[in-house]
Amino acid sequence: MDRFKDKTVIVTGAGSGIGKSTAIRLDAEGAQLLIIDINEEHLHATHSLLKNEASTSHVLNIASPEETKNFFQNLENNKKKLDALVNVAGILRFDNSHEVEIENWNKILEVNLTGTFFMCRYALPFLLESKGAIVNVSSSAAIGAHAWTSAYSASKGGISAFSKTLAVEYGMRGLNVNCVCPASIETPMSTNPEMPKDIDTRLLKKIMPLDGVNRSPDDIASTIAFLASEDAIHINGIDLRVDGGLLT
Ligand SMILES: NC(=O)c1ccc[n+]([C@@H]2O[C@H](COP(=O)([O-])OP(=O)(O)OC[C@H]3O[C@@H](n4cnc5c(N)ncnc54)[C@H](O)[C@@H]3O)[C@@H](O)[C@H]2O)c1
Repeated sequence: MDRFKDKTVIVTGAGSGIGKSTAIRLDAEGAQLLIIDINEEHLHATHSLLKNEASTSHVLNIASPEETKNFFQNLENNKKKLDALVNVAGILRFDNSHEVEIENWNKILEVNLTGTFFMCRYALPFLLESKGAIVNVSSSAAIGAHAWTSAYSASKGGISAFSKTLAVEYGMRGLNVNCVCPASIETPMSTNPEMPKDIDTRLLKKIMPLDGVNRSPDDIASTIAFLASEDAIHINGIDLRVDGGLLT
């Protein structure tokens, strides 16, 4: 498949997990990528795997609207076009809700919600020009209940909500904005996370897919590639669950 031949796509969080798999998938489908991550070493490792020599990597903290603004200003100065934006970067931590510290609450909201929003906000003029697509990685935690993740769930609920705002606000101008809501994907984020002490382990069942199998980030990358492509031209403003039936 070469659905992204002659297309330019930004992928955030490309240094690890779902973002890395997405970059590799889009590269295999012909995309010229601008990959972004806060982790320089991991970002460069992903970059070295890309076949398209025109692709570039950019160390950027999406939690800084100023850095994001400068990044897009630079694209404009260099007369770059953009066909799709894929926002994957995110952070997670588990806390009992009665023990959440304001610093951790703010950090999660700043990266996941504010960071994702400002990537969209500054990409919009480019994407309206190309009648492109935004794919935001939300979570099953935005739709169903998830214990110990108040800040994360709020941030992902926010992503799903503002993505629908963008979908209706710009849909008539040819932009598609959709969310992917994964669950139980094997990545560094989900492997042996630090849990609060004395949790009720019965609640862990609520975050397991129906067949009990955790999947590869490649299984989210394929869905992201679909939603970012012309194949999904008639899909706008959805939360697509890729959760092994968890919330069914
Ligand atoms: N793994 C799962 O089961 C799962 C389930 C639902 C949703 N998600 C979502 O998928 C996305 C990717 O998660 P993952 O599992 O691949 O995690 P991961 O930790 O493997 O990758 C996240 C990447 O985002 C980058 N990042 C973090 N903060 C950043 C910042 N401020 N600026 C730029 N880059 C930053 C990290 O350096 C890392 O490379 C996240 O948004 C996560 O919430 C994952």
